[in-house]
Amino acid sequence: MVDGAQRLEDEFLLKLVDFAYGQVDASEIEKLSLEVSWAKGWPKDPVAFWNVETFLWQRRIPKKKRDFIETELLKIKESKDSTLGKSLDIGCGSYSYIVSDVGLDVSSRMLKFNDRILEKVQGDLEEKWNFSSGEFSYVSCVFGLNYLNKVDFVLSEALRVLSQGGKFVVVLSAKGVSALHQQHEKQKFGLDSWKLLLEKHFGTVDSYEKEDLWFFFGIK
Ligand SMILES: C[S@@+](CC[C@H](N)C(=O)[O-])C[C@H]1O[C@@H](n2cnc3c(N)ncnc32)[C@H](O)[C@@H]1O
Repeated sequence: MVDGAQRLEDEFLLKLVDFAYGQVDASEIEKLSLEVSWAKGWPKDPVAFWNVETFLWQRRIPKKKRDFIETELLKIKESKDSTLGKSLDIGCGSYSYIVSDVGLDVSSRMLKFNDRILEKVQGDLEEKWNFSSGEFSYVSCVFGLNYLNKVDFVLSEALRVLSQGGKFVVVLSAKGVSALHQQHEKQKFGLDSWKLLLEKHFGTVDSYEKEDLWFFFGIK
């Protein structure tokens, strides 16, 4: 990267820290983002939004909560007939709660920082996934479904790439999302409506609420 571009990126990242602490206004970040290729168009442009979230999102989920989610996901993964094949984390962001074989996300920045996936695939979940049918025995989506327009399409792709008996696990916040995130939130359902939507694709779906989180899982 040329020196000038690096300087502007450093300036942007420093301001972002201030923004995270509520010390600067979003309009200042918006202006600076215009000079940084991967952030240009923040907060409206979705890819720029998620690229920038790489640096903010991890602060939103404290370590204790992450560990709690990991424990719950491992319990689900190992419940009933445990799944032994490949795992896929969709909308994996910069952190996969359980180490996964493949992570799929639209943001290359997010993927760059995710060290809990073995293979990183950059792509749009709302377009046909470049995976074979039945390739995975476990698919997870944590804090992701509510940000998608074509949820039915995404659920049908999750079902397609799962092998028979494979598990699909979803985690969502029961408390809703921040005002900043609401700009990119496309679905706002209660637990029962999410369950019904998932059941349309997966048949019976188990669900529960714990620590302000909703957990859902279905078996193909
Ligand atoms: C709220 S973050 C959650 C990230 C991670 N699962 C976690 O819990 O830390 C939502 C993630 O979904 C990704 N995402 C949003 N829309 C997407 C799309 N259409 N295709 C692929 N990924 C998408 C974003 O880039 C972001 O990494």
